[in-house]
Amino acid sequence: MVFNASIHYRDGALMIDDISVELIADEVGSPVYIYSLKRVRENLRRLQRAFASIDAHIHYSAKANSNSAVLRAVSKAGAGIDAVSGGEIQRALMAGARAEDIVFAGVAKTRDEIDYAVKSGVGWINVENALEMEHINAAAESLRIGEVKAALRFNPQVEAKTHRYMSTGHGAAKFGMTAASIGRILADCCRLPQVNVAGLHMHIGSQLGDTTATAEALSKLLALAKRYPQIDTLNLGGGLPVAYRFDETAPAMEEFAAEIAGLLRGYRVLLEPGRAIVADAGMLVVTVLYVKRQAGKLFIIVDGSMAELIRPALYQAHHEIVPLIESCGDTYTAQVVGPVCESADVLAWERELPRLEVGDRLAVMTTGAYGMAMASNYNSRLRPAEVVVEASGGSWRVSRRRETIDDILRLERLTSE
Ligand SMILES: Cc1ncc(COP(=O)(O)O)c(C=O)c1O
Repeated sequence: MVFNASIHYRDGALMIDDISVELIADEVGSPVYIYSLKRVRENLRRLQRAFASIDAHIHYSAKANSNSAVLRAVSKAGAGIDAVSGGEIQRALMAGARAEDIVFAGVAKTRDEIDYAVKSGVGWINVENALEMEHINAAAESLRIGEVKAALRFNPQVEAKTHRYMSTGHGAAKFGMTAASIGRILADCCRLPQVNVAGLHMHIGSQLGDTTATAEALSKLLALAKRYPQIDTLNLGGGLPVAYRFDETAPAMEEFAAEIAGLLRGYRVLLEPGRAIVADAGMLVVTVLYVKRQAGKLFIIVDGSMAELIRPALYQAHHEIVPLIESCGDTYTAQVVGPVCESADVLAWERELPRLEVGDRLAVMTTGAYGMAMASNYNSRLRPAEVVVEASGGSWRVSRRRETIDDILRLERLTSE
């Protein structure tokens, strides 16, 4: 079975860019995230091609997966970085991104983060409220740095058809600003000479398979942009969809890009996809610890949990789960659960799986985005190792080692009482 160009079974063994996943797990242990940098690069190229008609510049959204090897791979392949914290800016710079290719976004940037972004010379700051403009101006003045380019984040008040936690462009969302607030900022911005408002930004949500809301938001964005001649750049955000189920195919974006190309003529266009670049390049490998039957249910208890992958618990997200060794035998319906003390600690509900034994390994698929990036130390669990298979193929390395309990405890100081 072939999952994508990088991940498939060969002679019954799951492979990632021709390396046995079992072999990696034997050496590194589980749970472990494994990413194909080749697939990351291919996904980026596919999007660059899909949006070539609007000459869009892609800024990879680092929040999806900020592993330094991933950031380096996308930077080397020509993408900028969308960073939402000082930490992400620092990671992007460390990984080799050029400061001018970084967009600094985020709903509530601290003064320190703004100072750091301005000092680093990031290309853009996406602004989400009027006070932030003052902070940017003050930072540029005190650091004696010329103009800082800013894009105002527009909340177009449209409801994206997606999980409600991933819908960010409706009126009740904390994100962005109304057209009226943007108008007030633009009317007043000559007071802040260090901030050059040259762009508008929007991001109405994630997993936007249906482009109806995007089209509506875009027409509102264009209507707003046309009123202000200083706006020459439109950042349309991320949210490009990913196929999480085997029977799904993510809609091709070429058609949508062609549809909107005419409307965007004359503007420089930025995009901030995250998951569409990394999700299907990654998997989380877990090991069966126990098989338990109870109250008519079958529980496969594995060593990975909501602490390592919170998407099923947080968004009721579906991730396919496959054995590392392909099985043609009987199947049963089971719940795949983790060791965390929460009823929400379920990786898959009512899933058809081959019969499993203690020690068998499973791959939780399409977890390259918002997997490790959202992992926590809940229950004092140690965040897993991350392995990358190099883009050239044939070799792999641990890009981030598994945490140890000392990593966590060294941040705490016991009092003498
Ligand atoms: C402002 C912004 N841009 C881009 C993204 C990336 O979204 P996705 O990974 O769905 O492409 C997000 C996700 O939350 C976001 O909030």
